[in-house]
Amino acid sequence: MNYTQAKEKMTAIGQEHILRYFDELSPAQQENLLKQIEETDFSVLKRIDCGASDERGVFSPLAAMQLSEIEARRQEFYDVGAEAIKAGKTAALLLAGGMGTRLGSDNPKGMYDIGVTKPVYIFERIVSNLLDVVKDTDTWIRLFIMTSEKNHDATVKFFKEQDYFGYKADRIVFFKQDMAPACDFDGKLYMEAKDRISTSPNGNAGWYSSMVRAGLDKILTDEGIEWIDIFAVDNVLQRICDPCFVGATILADVAVGAKVVRKAAPDEKVGVMCLEDGRPSIVEYYELSEEMMDAKDENGDPAYNYGVILNYLFRTSELTKVTDDKMPLHVVRKKIPYIDETGTQIKPSEPNGYKFEQLVLDMIHQLSSCLPYEVVRDKEFAPIKNATGVDSVESARELLKKNHIEL
Ligand code: UTP
Repeated sequence: MNYTQAKEKMTAIGQEHILRYFDELSPAQQENLLKQIEETDFSVLKRIDCGASDERGVFSPLAAMQLSEIEARRQEFYDVGAEAIKAGKTAALLLAGGMGTRLGSDNPKGMYDIGVTKPVYIFERIVSNLLDVVKDTDTWIRLFIMTSEKNHDATVKFFKEQDYFGYKADRIVFFKQDMAPACDFDGKLYMEAKDRISTSPNGNAGWYSSMVRAGLDKILTDEGIEWIDIFAVDNVLQRICDPCFVGATILADVAVGAKVVRKAAPDEKVGVMCLEDGRPSIVEYYELSEEMMDAKDENGDPAYNYGVILNYLFRTSELTKVTDDKMPLHVVRKKIPYIDETGTQIKPSEPNGYKFEQLVLDMIHQLSSCLPYEVVRDKEFAPIKNATGVDSVESARELLKKNHIEL
């Protein structure tokens, strides 16, 4: 793309300010900017005023498999899950492409040290949890790690420096997720440098399309991987590729299994597993009507009672049914670093614009069936979103201590 074509493209969408510094740039920088303009999908900007994903269908309850049933069938589930893992049919995928802005560190979130008497990194905890299953099943589970352009090099370097926290390096594959442009509240694109439009990772649902673009679906096919456990970087207690969960999902013969926790209160701020127009879905806490909060199942328990913890086991053969353009695009208010009119770098302390994301939970809705699988909150859910307060380093440390993990 040449300058005239770029100018035309940007003028047509009211974003010609992107070329404001063009004459000051070196030929290499000019080329970078023109390439970015050519490759970026700006159609997301139209979504700001569309009310995005607000339209929802008819919700109904989806019963979870509860702890009592899991306990009663533990051995049966374990045997089936362990067999699948040993046969190499199960992989893990760490979602580490997020910006972790709430935690406020410049490094990738997984590099955060949550130790007290010694360094304990978030990545270390995650790998250690997976290593439990590796040891238990005597199988090196294939581990994919999704990063983004913003944190890829730092993440890969850190894993190498730390000798992959004891994991087998050739069983790990790092890949970058795709990016989306970011803009201010009026829809004007931000620039992060004079030769670069501000971009941010395109949401955690980007994992599958980004994996395909990187040609990694070939690994799934070549290695006969039938199940892939997708999980967030910030839950330092979660069990990954947990054989019982794998076995229960296989035996339920569903497209996806979802780890869920019993809600602490009817109005707790978690997304709740349910059906929407008959398909599995997640209803956000602010979408729950009074009626839904009061609804009871046949045992008299709350019918919408199980919150998701971002740990899903997808049947890989179902993934081709998931298409990006059927998924809603979430317009999210975030802090976006940018350069102002004078070219000065600004790092805002409050949200100053929109990012565009597709979320894993919307992938679930494209699938035909789901098993919500209950786990004990205090044993499997210690998310680190903030430095202090709710879902923080402090609260996670407390839970880790409760689980006798040395910090
Ligand atoms: P969060 O919703 O907590 O987002 O991600 P975040 O970007 O990490 O954090 P904040 O909101 O800026 O503080 C949940 C999980 O999804 C991953 C994150 O790395 C985390 O594991 N994620 C999120 C991605 O991999 N890519 C994305 O584009 C967004």
